[in-house]
Amino acid sequence: MRTELLGGLSPGDFLRDYWQKKPLLVRGALPGFRGLLTRDDLIGLACRNDAQSRLIARKNGKWQVGHGPFTPRFFSRLPKKRWTLLVQDVNHFLPAARELLLRFNFIPHSRLDDLMVSYAPGEGGVGPHFDSYDVFLLQGMGRRYWQISAQRDKRLIVDAPIKILHDFRPEQEWVLESGDMLYLPPGYAHNGVAKDDCMTYSIGFRAPGYQELATQFLIYLQDHIAIEGMYRDPDISLQSHPGRISPAMVRQMSAALDIIKWSDADIERFMGIYLTEPKSHVFFTPPPHPVTRKKFADQAEKNGVQLDLKSRMLCRGKTVFLNGDAYTVGLAARRSLETLADSHILPTAEALDGEVLALLYQWYRYGHIEICP
Ligand code: SIN
Ligand code: CO
Repeated sequence: MRTELLGGLSPGDFLRDYWQKKPLLVRGALPGFRGLLTRDDLIGLACRNDAQSRLIARKNGKWQVGHGPFTPRFFSRLPKKRWTLLVQDVNHFLPAARELLLRFNFIPHSRLDDLMVSYAPGEGGVGPHFDSYDVFLLQGMGRRYWQISAQRDKRLIVDAPIKILHDFRPEQEWVLESGDMLYLPPGYAHNGVAKDDCMTYSIGFRAPGYQELATQFLIYLQDHIAIEGMYRDPDISLQSHPGRISPAMVRQMSAALDIIKWSDADIERFMGIYLTEPKSHVFFTPPPHPVTRKKFADQAEKNGVQLDLKSRMLCRGKTVFLNGDAYTVGLAARRSLETLADSHILPTAEALDGEVLALLYQWYRYGHIEICP
């Protein structure tokens, strides 16, 4: 189905021709979109302990970066121009931000990172750079001048506190107005400068580097392997060089380590856990006065349940993954939980399957889901 969000392309066309391949400018991707929050709302988020925020400014030609949480006083002292406030994970705080992200569900949730929102007064920007993520840059309030380049030269300014391209050579440029959107694949050089008071919504998709993936897999494996026995050498021979590691010792230890094996099932389980693991600053708040299981069942069936805004949920085969934990479930449970994973909401039901109910109640007590208002 063709969609305005992708400039008349169908999601399938977009994935085939643009995703991870080339930029796409969409005029009027979300006609009438002016943003989900005001400058002051964003400043409010940047003052919270549980939000990650940065302030990037350019003073006398030098880039500067500061990390939140900030104080409201800090913002009252900033110059009129040339700075940008960026707040990550805005979808953890605003239901409307989750709605916005769900519009991009033609990309699997396993690839989604977050919604980052920036505010900049005139001439503010974060400088020419490239990201390792796919990003949809949706213009909210105001206008932003974008320049982009397919350049291969990725050298950075050495002494800058943020990633700034040493030699940016723009090839295309546009002014984006409210509701316009620019998709950029990873590694595409770009530079956005605010024309006036401007807010940009970055819908970012993560792609783990293989080094990071391997490191995390090895950490996972270390908690999931159990190897019996210990090194023994009752038939040790006399060594003329006691300082040497003997070939016999190498053989025995190598045979012991050879026992470490993993299957596709281990990889799938690791992936589900890794991809739903909350970021280190994310904490869930259990309900202060939880209702009883019976009451929960009544309310869940009547109103439906939804994921907490900070929750990440994925499924694979018989296993559902929620916020870094794996749950293996039966077929009936699988169907409903897959709906919750896909749409973040499990609508009202006649009667919830016993297994689903038990899990939902547990997750409700953890603060991972809530009864729909
Ligand atoms: C911004 O919103 O100012 C920066 C977004 C980006 O360049 O990735
Ligand atoms: Co960028």
